[in-house]
Amino acid sequence: MKIAFIGVGGIAGNYRRSLKQLERPIAAVCDINAERAETIATEENATAYTDHGEMLEKEKPDVVFTCIPPGAHTTQVADAAASGAALFVAKPVAQDLETAQHASDAIAAAGVINQVGYMARYSDITAKTRELVSDRQLTMGIGRFLTRMGAGHPWWGKFDVSRGQMVEQTTHVFDLIRYFLGDAVSVHAYGIKGVSDGIADFEECTVCNIKFESGAVGSITSTCVARAHDSFATELVGDDLYLKLTHDNGLRGQVGDEGIDYTGTEAGYFRQVEQFVKAVDANDQGLVLSSYADAVKTLAVTLAANRSLETGEIEQVAE
Ligand SMILES: NC(=O)c1ccc[n+]([C@@H]2O[C@H](COP(=O)([O-])OP(=O)(O)OC[C@H]3O[C@@H](n4cnc5c(N)ncnc54)[C@H](O)[C@@H]3O)[C@@H](O)[C@H]2O)c1
Repeated sequence: MKIAFIGVGGIAGNYRRSLKQLERPIAAVCDINAERAETIATEENATAYTDHGEMLEKEKPDVVFTCIPPGAHTTQVADAAASGAALFVAKPVAQDLETAQHASDAIAAAGVINQVGYMARYSDITAKTRELVSDRQLTMGIGRFLTRMGAGHPWWGKFDVSRGQMVEQTTHVFDLIRYFLGDAVSVHAYGIKGVSDGIADFEECTVCNIKFESGAVGSITSTCVARAHDSFATELVGDDLYLKLTHDNGLRGQVGDEGIDYTGTEAGYFRQVEQFVKAVDANDQGLVLSSYADAVKTLAVTLAANRSLETGEIEQVAE
């Protein structure tokens, strides 16, 4: 399996560690930052590139990991798919639906294995929750992503590159709630800007209500200006059902007469890469829990939330 990377910054380091543990060497890396490309290539004993097209042509990788900021996505995923490579794409898949749909079409046309890095889908607590709710109707999802970002991050706080916290970060919570509650039809969001100096040029506190196709309702809050102990959490509600999934791998609640008090050990970071490698080895997309096409739907929900911040209206989620 010849593996290549497009973008070798922060999250790429996490995926590289998992690949090392799986004893899957990396053959080539591409980064527009030539110095970074060289450094990581030396660490990985790989070849460095600054142009992904040249890398795809010369290396013909079997697998490509893309780990670039949302606003940097142009045709990298589509080009890699057209070259026949399986794809692991860091979330969110792009900053607009046109780019994402173009890539999704290219993936479908090439028929390559594809996965997006929504690691929470691969955690122990998510697997346990799926078991507990398999024969139950979920009627409400509550989620939050509360954190304080460092000021002066090179791109995170710039709307032009990140598309804001809901698209870039809280996307994990939107995606997990979609995983349990299904497709969303409309959203309504409020936000406030200018809370803190230098963190972000977009709304730093947001609330977003969601209506799902099933009739279920959801509500997701985000902030990037406050250090919260319980930063990434998801709660699920149904008839005589309450479950709370927390960032420390905790799952607590009540399902009928059964009290739930469970702690997982795997948060999903390693397992998502392990599962992807298995899917590529077996050429079986059925092993993937977070396909590219499904991730485009999560992007559509968060982009609709951004539109709602602007218009103040209920916004339909694009098909
Ligand atoms: N838990 C997670 O799933 C998680 C965590 C962090 C980041 N991410 C996602 O990973 C992506 C990257 O984030 P990061 O924190 O690694 O950012 P980063 O800034 O640390 O690294 C991004 C790298 O991409 C390179 N790059 C930019 N445009 C490029 C291009 N056109 N071709 C090649 N290289 C290019 C940059 O030079 C940089 O080295 C983002 O979409 C982010 O949301 C996911």
